[in-house]
Amino acid sequence: MKNLSILGSTGSIGRQALEVVAAYPERFRVVGLAAGRNIRLLTAQARRFRPAVVAVADEGCYGELRAELAGTGITVMAGEEGLLAVATHAAAKQVLVAVVGAAGIAPTLAAIDAGKEIALANKETLVAAGHLVTARAKKAGVPLVPVDSEHSAIFQCLGGRRHPGLARIILTASGGPFLELPLERLAEVTAAEALSHPSWRMGEKVTVDSATLMNKGLEVIEAHWFFGLDYDRIGVVIHPGSIVHSMVEMVDGSILAQLGPADMRLPIAYALAHPERLAGPWPRLGELAGLSLRFLPVEAQRFPALALAYEMGRRGGTWPAVMNAANEVAVAAFLAGRIRFTDIIRIVAAVCGHYGGGEDPSPDLPAVLAADAWARRKAEEFIAEVKMT
Ligand SMILES: NC(=O)c1ccc[n+]([C@@H]2O[C@H](COP(=O)([O-])OP(=O)(O)OC[C@H]3O[C@@H](n4cnc5c(N)ncnc54)[C@H](OP(=O)(O)O)[C@@H]3O)[C@@H](O)[C@H]2O)c1
Repeated sequence: MKNLSILGSTGSIGRQALEVVAAYPERFRVVGLAAGRNIRLLTAQARRFRPAVVAVADEGCYGELRAELAGTGITVMAGEEGLLAVATHAAAKQVLVAVVGAAGIAPTLAAIDAGKEIALANKETLVAAGHLVTARAKKAGVPLVPVDSEHSAIFQCLGGRRHPGLARIILTASGGPFLELPLERLAEVTAAEALSHPSWRMGEKVTVDSATLMNKGLEVIEAHWFFGLDYDRIGVVIHPGSIVHSMVEMVDGSILAQLGPADMRLPIAYALAHPERLAGPWPRLGELAGLSLRFLPVEAQRFPALALAYEMGRRGGTWPAVMNAANEVAVAAFLAGRIRFTDIIRIVAAVCGHYGGGEDPSPDLPAVLAADAWARRKAEEFIAEVKMT
């Protein structure tokens, strides 16, 4: 029996993780749940899975959550303190970090320092603070297991260990809903169109990131930290259909790939049960005859986010945190109808272009958070200047 805390239990990854837990009640027990503000779902999850502690990040929701769970014996908390309590709960063996955005940094570091195994879905944490997360995990001797399907694929291909014969990794990208849209139409696309991903059903932020390919850019930086590889050993190829979830190329030229359905329950289950495999309730690829795999190069003009992410990743220090924070703000502004789709990466690039810090290659947490806060303010300034006519 493995005791789990889940941060972001009401989100796409969190809900699917609870489906895996529900399918294997003899293997997994939930001891902590945390979410942002979706009290209704969090209450239902708490009633069903009976954790010891439940937390809601939005402090304004605390009273309602406490009232909903009165008499259950479940400890109810709120705010950053609540998130940290769930992340470090004494009974938890592993913490699944599935909150979205830089909000994942502090609880991930706290969980590591408390000696918890980490299943990391939240890529923004590694992007902004990869040097801190990996150093602290090494020091604490806790495993960091990827949940992102691409990184899980690489992790699976390498058998969960650093392989001396590894030459490079190749991340696959579906290309999102605008892969074949005429370039001049990109500025007009709506949030609804950006949210209709051809192969994955995910939270809104990661879905928009998939449409700009910033998601792949974030994943390149995530892979740099997860697998300890230089950026010139991390490649990206477009693979519409999302069947090959990523590949590794060995020094002898052999390429190993992991194939599977576009269903996050598989990598989530692998992160929770590794090195064992669970049969699971998810679909299979099934009959392979007739299946064809298509790979295309990334069109730089269509997807400027990818080159930007490589550049910020190579610069290191606080640059990736700045890029990530600006992107979070710009994506939220696009979803709110305040800017156009093509403004997202234009604004992120402009924020990076105005950043004057970043010379420390190994910034501490306050420096990372200060860079993040600066980038959010700067992105808001640029957004305020956008004319939508
Ligand atoms: N979805 C996927 O298939 C997928 C695949 C690979 C990687 N990922 C990564 O996994 C992470 C989660 O993605 P998602 O698609 O599951 O996102 P999502 O559906 O938007 O869910 C986000 C979760 O985070 C919670 N949350 C938001 N702000 C918070 C805060 N300040 N403090 C604490 N919790 C907060 C939300 O709570 P409320 O709903 O209660 O507000 C929700 O539970 C992202 O980093 C994403 O890039 C996702």
